[in-house]
Amino acid sequence: MTTSIGPSIGLVGAGGMGRSILRTLTAGGHTVTVADRDPQEAAAAAGEAGEGRASAGSLAEALAADIVVLAIWYPGTVELARAHGEVLRGTIVVDVANPLDATYTGLTVDPTTSAAEELARAVPGSRVVKAFNTLPSTTLAAGGVEGRRLDTFVASDDEGAKAQVMELLRTSGMRALDGGALASSRLLERLTAFTIELSQRYDTGSAYAFGFQPAADLAAQA
Ligand SMILES: NC(=O)c1ccc[n+]([C@@H]2O[C@H](COP(=O)([O-])OP(=O)(O)OC[C@H]3O[C@@H](n4cnc5c(N)ncnc54)[C@H](OP(=O)(O)O)[C@@H]3O)[C@@H](O)[C@H]2O)c1
Repeated sequence: MTTSIGPSIGLVGAGGMGRSILRTLTAGGHTVTVADRDPQEAAAAAGEAGEGRASAGSLAEALAADIVVLAIWYPGTVELARAHGEVLRGTIVVDVANPLDATYTGLTVDPTTSAAEELARAVPGSRVVKAFNTLPSTTLAAGGVEGRRLDTFVASDDEGAKAQVMELLRTSGMRALDGGALASSRLLERLTAFTIELSQRYDTGSAYAFGFQPAADLAAQA
C-alpha cells in the first residue's frame, strides 16, 4: 500500500501537460485523481503514473479535491469554471494555460489581462494560482534540463493558496519561485510565447526551460 502526503489533488486533462504534471506530482509522493473528457485517456494516464498514486475519476471526483489543477486549454478553463463554479468555490485552482494564438509566439488575450485572471473572474470566491505554464510538457516530464532543477513561477492574489501550491511543487522536486500577484500571469504567459519564439529561432525543439539565475543563493527560500 502506498502512503500519500498533503492535500488531495484533482487534475482535469490527461493530455501532454496533464500527464507530465501527474508524473511530477506522483513522483513527489502526492495522490492525484485525474479526469478527462475521454475516460480511457484518464485511465491510461493514471496507469503510467508512479506507484499507484494516481487514479482515474469522474470530473466531479477531480473537482472535489482540495487542489484542482486544470491542464486544459483557455478558454476551456473559463467555460469549465462557469459550469462548475459553486463546486470550485473556495478550492485552490491551479491554472497552467497559455492562451497561445495560431503562431504559438503570440497570445489571444489583451495585454491588460491573462488566462489566469479571466479564470479567476469566472470562479466565485476564487483562489486561482498560476504555475507550471512556462515549462514545456516534455521538459517537465524529464524533471530537469541537463541535471538542473526546474524553476516554476507561482502567482496568485491568495497568499495562503500560493504557499500551499509552492510547497506542493517543492516537494515534487521543482524550485518554486514566488511570482507575486495573479496579474504576473500577464508576463508569465507572454514569456512562454517568447520562449517558444526563441526555441523556434534556435531550433531547440521543446528541450529547454526558462529559469531565474540570481547571484544570491535562493536555497533557503526556494
Ligand atoms: N503542452 C505543453 O507543453 C504545455 C506547456 C505549458 C502549458 N501548457 C498548457 O496546458 C494546457 C493543456 O495543454 P496540453 O498540451 O496538455 O493539451 P492537450 O494535449 O490537448 O490535453 C488536454 C486534454 O484535456 C481534455 N479536456 C479539455 N477540456 C476538458 C474538460 N472540460 N473536461 C475534461 N477534459 C477536458 C482534452 O480532451 P479533448 O481533446 O477531447 O478536448 C485533452 O485530452 C493548455 O492550457 C496549455 O496552454 C501546455
